[in-house]
Amino acid sequence: MIPYGRQSISEADIQAVVDVLKSDFLTQGPMVPAFEDAVAAVCGAKFGVAMNSATSALHVACLALGVGPGDSVWTSPLTFVASSNAALYCGADVDFVDVDERTYNMCPARLAAKLDHAAEEGKLPKVIIPVHLTGQSCDMAAIHAAASRHGVRIIEDASHAIGGSYQALPVGNCRYSDITIFSFHPVKIVTTGEGGMAMTNDPELAERMRLDRSHGITRDPAKLQHDDAGAWYYEQQRLGFNYRMTDICAALGLSQMARIDRFLARRAPFVSRTVIVIVAEKSAVRGGRREGGEVPGVGRLEARLDDVDDGGGRQPRRGHHAGRDRRAQPEAVDDPPLPRLRLLGACRR
Ligand SMILES: Cc1ncc(COP(=O)(O)O)c(C=O)c1O
Repeated sequence: MIPYGRQSISEADIQAVVDVLKSDFLTQGPMVPAFEDAVAAVCGAKFGVAMNSATSALHVACLALGVGPGDSVWTSPLTFVASSNAALYCGADVDFVDVDERTYNMCPARLAAKLDHAAEEGKLPKVIIPVHLTGQSCDMAAIHAAASRHGVRIIEDASHAIGGSYQALPVGNCRYSDITIFSFHPVKIVTTGEGGMAMTNDPELAERMRLDRSHGITRDPAKLQHDDAGAWYYEQQRLGFNYRMTDICAALGLSQMARIDRFLARRAPFVSRTVIVIVAEKSAVRGGRREGGEVPGVGRLEARLDDVDDGGGRQPRRGHHAGRDRRAQPEAVDDPPLPRLRLLGACRR
């Protein structure tokens, strides 16, 4: 049985957490900005805004780009529910752009065609959320070219992709997007237990996301809208959330970041090896793909069920993960295609 994931925790990680537990600040202390700076340095973005999950980060990223009721957000059908839930939290509708069969990532050509059609109908999305499935970057230059022609903003869901690269630059540098999101769930490359981060090069977006992650409250004298009544004074300027990351989590993340290259090197051989093991055991599963040139973050491994051979001949393929015979099913299906999920179907208008 191949486990879904297994984190690597070193003595240094444990000590980093213990140090915070013995310190004055379990939350809102110095470790969160230190972790944000470390991630920003690794991925080449100006700002990192740490949160308690990538889901929270996706939510505030959508809000920062002005997503609200009546808007539409497009994402990939092959992702986890969080990519589309972020839009639903904002009261927006969700639609999907089909994937490229070679990469399973959002197809830039299909995106361009869908955007042109939506422009003619006056139904352009406010934001698109391409997902770097299993750590392999989408073709962001092509996606950006298509979206910017129509003034559509971009959030990269790089939950699987920290440490990966695209066009020889690290994923997360936001060259082709407004905001990039990372996840630090234990199944991801670097973990904080639960956690996420929004990267951006835009100071206003960073500020807006910082406000939304902490109740919409600010103490910054430069930002107060009313007279500063003293050191105790703060203002709630928006209806925000408590999406803060604790210093305990940030210390773990910071310690883990020191080993990110080792994590990536350890995962890389499994990309092909694990798929081969599955193929040998299940015979129905084949494939698993990496495009040449780019370094994937190796957030996950992916295998593809095509025609299922259950011993009685090939069954027709029924969707991305489906096989008819339980004997031919994989041990675990990670994420079913989003349009098949009942809640999302109910939410789509
Ligand atoms: C593509 C994708 N986006 C977002 C998330 C949500 O991440 P988190 O668990 O940190 O909220 C996940 C989690 O697995 C994911 O796979």
